[in-house]
Amino acid sequence: MNMQFEQAQRIKRLPPYLFARIEKLIKEKRDAGVDIISLGIGDPDMPTPDYIIEELQKQAEIGANHQYPSSAGMLAYRKAVAQWYKNRFGVELDSASEVVSLIGSKEGIAHISFCYLNPGDTVLVPDPGYPVYAGGAILAGAEPYYMPLKAEKSFLPDLSDIPVDVARRAKMMFINYPNNPTGAVAGEEFYREVISFAKEYNILICHDAAYSEIAYDGYEPPSFLQYPGAKEVGIEFHSVSKTYNMTGWRIGWAAGHPQVVEALGRLKSNIDSGQFQAVQYAAIQGLTGPQDAVLQMRKVYQERRDILVDALNSMGWQLEKPKATFYVWAPVPAGYTSESFAELVLDKAGVVITPGSGYGSNSDGFFRIALTMEKERMIEALERMKKNIGMVEF
Ligand code: MLT
Repeated sequence: MNMQFEQAQRIKRLPPYLFARIEKLIKEKRDAGVDIISLGIGDPDMPTPDYIIEELQKQAEIGANHQYPSSAGMLAYRKAVAQWYKNRFGVELDSASEVVSLIGSKEGIAHISFCYLNPGDTVLVPDPGYPVYAGGAILAGAEPYYMPLKAEKSFLPDLSDIPVDVARRAKMMFINYPNNPTGAVAGEEFYREVISFAKEYNILICHDAAYSEIAYDGYEPPSFLQYPGAKEVGIEFHSVSKTYNMTGWRIGWAAGHPQVVEALGRLKSNIDSGQFQAVQYAAIQGLTGPQDAVLQMRKVYQERRDILVDALNSMGWQLEKPKATFYVWAPVPAGYTSESFAELVLDKAGVVITPGSGYGSNSDGFFRIALTMEKERMIEALERMKKNIGMVEF
């Protein structure tokens, strides 16, 4: 008989990962023979561009790449990141001290809490928010203080709503624009406000910019790091995952405040041994190669966004088209919670949507749809919803 082992408190406090729960549900339905269309996880369905794959193939054959990489990342990779920041945002980064490679930005987002949060410390986390912000903080024993993102405030946290004693206690703040799950965007005024708040209360800002390249109608999302003083108060997490359809490759970075970059690199050198160099070379190709594939991908998502929003609006929603991200965030109809509405859509239409409650306790009442599904299947999902759920009211 298996021995029983008492789990550590930190693991007991950790809920199962949102998409692990959803994957299980999808499997159960598929095993029961239901044709499920998943608009749940935001995982690009389009392939990684050929020139990136070819670079991986070439580099995988080189013996030097078969050994341990450096955990901070090859200097050539960090230089490519710095050059990309310069070209894209006009941001100057010292590649040696202000950039560290990550095994996907999720990894760094989870680990940064171990660098700056002691048990009992307060961390400011958006709600709704990518579950890893709170998850990493909880693992480090810290206490998330949730900043509600409300539609009437364009899904930006209202910093003046944070009680002064909480702001004084807080060690770190996570923010994320373009935003998952709301699709909201942030501009200069907001970032300047965040920087001055961080300086006033001595708070480390961790900005997640994973969706900066997924934008529409000519809009170019900014980087947090391009605003004066940003590098003095924070870092930005980013990756090639969403930009070049490379979620499975697991490669990203953190950039900005050199001491924070150093601390994260030091932590990681005690935990992992970096990312396979062939993958780093492939990511360099992505960042420095032709960007036509990115422009093409934006067009594809924009068309899907328009189809999706128009179809939901024809069923009774009144949604605006998001300017960025591949997510549409929508309120649930009257009489439903986000869980009960997601269940209804799954049972009646065989379509997976993500309940807002998975992104925080203030986010019940919403659901998220990801545009990472080919057009024909997405249209089929919408037709099934129209036929089996019909017009909705709020
Ligand atoms: C999501 O669906 O929220 C994202 O794909 C999760 C991630 O980036 O890890």
